[in-house]
Amino acid sequence: MGAANGYANGKVAYSQPELSKYEKVVEFIMHRFRFLFVVPFLLPLGVVYNWFFELRNWFVFNINSAPKAHDRKVQRVQAQVRRWNESGQKTKMCTARSGWLTMSFRFPLYKQSMTQIRTDTLIDILEIDEEAMTVRVEPMVTMGQITRFLIPRGFTLPIVPELDDLTVGGMINGCGVEASGKKYGMFQHICQSYELVLADGSLVTAKKIEGKPVNQEESEMHTLFFGIPWSHGTIGLLTAATIRIIRCRPFVKLVYYPTNTLDEMKLRLNAEAENKENEFVEALMFNKDKGCVMRGRFSDGPLDKTGVINRIGRWYTKWFYTQVEDIVDDGKVVTQFIPLRDYYHRHSKSIFWELKEIVPFGNNVLFRWFCGWMCPPKISLLKATTPPTLRKLYDRQHVLQDMLVPMDQLTKTIEVFHEEVEIYPVWVCPFRLPSCPGMLRQRSGASQMFVDVGAYGVTLKKDYHPQETTRRLEAFVRSVKGFQMLYADTYMTRAEFWEMFDSSIYDWLRAKYNCRKAFPDVYDKVCKAARY
Ligand SMILES: Cc1cc2nc3c(=O)[nH]c(=O)nc-3n(C[C@H](O)[C@H](O)[C@H](O)COP(=O)(O)OP(=O)(O)OC[C@H]3O[C@@H](n4cnc5c(N)ncnc54)[C@H](O)[C@@H]3O)c2cc1C
Ligand SMILES: *[C@@H]1O[C@H](CO)[C@@H](O)[C@H](O)[C@H]1NC(C)=O
Repeated sequence: MGAANGYANGKVAYSQPELSKYEKVVEFIMHRFRFLFVVPFLLPLGVVYNWFFELRNWFVFNINSAPKAHDRKVQRVQAQVRRWNESGQKTKMCTARSGWLTMSFRFPLYKQSMTQIRTDTLIDILEIDEEAMTVRVEPMVTMGQITRFLIPRGFTLPIVPELDDLTVGGMINGCGVEASGKKYGMFQHICQSYELVLADGSLVTAKKIEGKPVNQEESEMHTLFFGIPWSHGTIGLLTAATIRIIRCRPFVKLVYYPTNTLDEMKLRLNAEAENKENEFVEALMFNKDKGCVMRGRFSDGPLDKTGVINRIGRWYTKWFYTQVEDIVDDGKVVTQFIPLRDYYHRHSKSIFWELKEIVPFGNNVLFRWFCGWMCPPKISLLKATTPPTLRKLYDRQHVLQDMLVPMDQLTKTIEVFHEEVEIYPVWVCPFRLPSCPGMLRQRSGASQMFVDVGAYGVTLKKDYHPQETTRRLEAFVRSVKGFQMLYADTYMTRAEFWEMFDSSIYDWLRAKYNCRKAFPDVYDKVCKAARY
C-alpha cells in the first residue's frame, strides 16, 4: 500500500494516552459496568427529555408562535455579533453550543477562548410551503423532529441522515450522507437557501440562482451559498435554512441481496445505485467477504397477504443490522416492507453498532421487551457523563471514521480499512456528488458516484495507533481523491487538509466578509489539536 508515505513526513505529533496501572483497573471496571449507570439513569432521563421536547414542539407549531419568535431570536444573534464588533473584535466567534451536545464524539477545545454566540434557541420548524415544496427550519431542528413533523403530512426530506439527534445546522455546516444520496447527493444539495448572520451583524439570504444572476448582489449570494457547506460555521452564523421536500409513501419496499465477495458486493451496489427506480441504496459488510446490498423504493405496502411487513422501529425488535446479518447467514434474497419512518431511523436504535459497546446485552430479547422503548440513550447524555479517564480508554481502540471515496475505489478502500482497523460491520453508502463550487469538489475528472465507507467501533487490531493508523487512512483517501468526514478525528496537517478540500471560494469569502477576524479557520476547528 503506497499510502503510508504521508506519515513519515508528518510534523504534527500527538501522544498516545498513557494509562497508569490503577487507571487501567478503574477503567476496566467502569467500561464493563457502565450499563449499571446507563440503563437505570440515562435511558429514562433521555425518554423524559424527548417527551418534553415532542410536547413542546407540537405546541409551538400549533399556536404558530415560531415564525414571530424567529425574528426576535435572529435579532438577538445580530446584537451579539454587533457587540463583539463594538468591543473591539477581540477574540474570534463561535456558537455557544456546548461540546457535549454535539453528535461528534469529540469536545471542542477552542470554545473557551472565543466569543460565544448563543444560537441555542433556534430549534423550531418555521413553515412548510406545499406549493414550492420546501420547508423552512431553524438550524437546531433535528432529523427526528423533521420526520415526525413531515411524514404524517405525506412529505419527507429527500435525504434524512441517520440518528434522530443530528441537526440541520450540523448537516449544512458539516455534511450529511444517507442511502437516498445516490439520487439526491448530500444534505447540502437538497438545500435551497441559507439565512446567515455575517461578521458585520447583517442578515443575508444565500441562495442558489438557476441561470444567470441579474446583478452583483445575486451573484455574491450565489457564491456564498456554495461556500457554506463543510465550512463549520467559519463564514457566518446560520439562522434558518429552506430545504426541498418531496412526497412520500408510508412504506419502503426493501430488497436484501446477500453477497459473498467484495467484488460481487461492489458490482451489485453499483448497479443498484445507478438504477433510477431505486430511492435508497446502502450495503453492510460483515466481514471482508460477506455483505448485504439493500435497495429500497417507496411503496404503499404489500399488495397481498404474502408481503412481509417488518416494523423495525418497534421497541422489541432486533437491532436492524443484526437482522441483516441473519439474512446474510441464510444467503437468500429477501423482500420486506418497512414503515418509512422506521426505515429512516433504522440504525438509530443501536447507534449504528455502537450501543453494544455500552450495553452489551442491549440486543437481548428480554432487554428489548423491557427497556427497548427507552433506546437509544441520548448521545449527548452519554457524552456528558463519560469521565475523562474512560474517554482515554475509548481512544485507544475505538474508531469512528467516515471516508468518502469515488465508487471505483470502493473495494480497495474496504481492503485498506480491513488491513488498518478491521471493524465490522462496515457501512457502505453511495451518493452522488454533483459538480458545483465549494470545499468539496470532484477531483477525479468525470462526475463519478461516490461512496461513504464508515467504520464505527472497537478495532481488532492490536497494533492500532490512533494517530499513525488514521494518518495512513487519510493519506490513502487523499491518494484516491476522496474526502474525510470532519466530525471524526483528523490528523492531517494544514497542507494535507487543503490538498483534500478546495479552498478557492472559501478563501475568497473569508476575505470578503471579514471572517478572518471574526471566525477561526475551518482547519483550526476540526483538526485533532482543536478537540479532545
Ligand atoms: C454515531 C454517529 C453516526 C453518524 N451517522 C451519520 C449519518 O448517518 N450520516 C451523516 O451524514 N453523518 C453521520 N454522523 C456524523 C455527523 O455528520 C456529524 O456528527 C455532524 O456534523 C454533527 O452534527 P451535529 O448536528 O451535532 O452538529 P454540530 O457538531 O453541532 O455542528 C457541526 C458544525 O457545524 C457548525 N454549526 C452548527 N450549527 C451552526 C450554525 N447555526 N451556524 C454556524 N455554524 C454551525 C458547528 O460549529 C460545527 O462546526 C454520525 C456521527 C456519529 C457520531
Ligand atoms: C464596528 O464597530 C466600529 C467601532 O466600534 C464601528 O465604527 C462600526 O460601524 C461597527 N461596524 C458595524 C458593521 O456595526
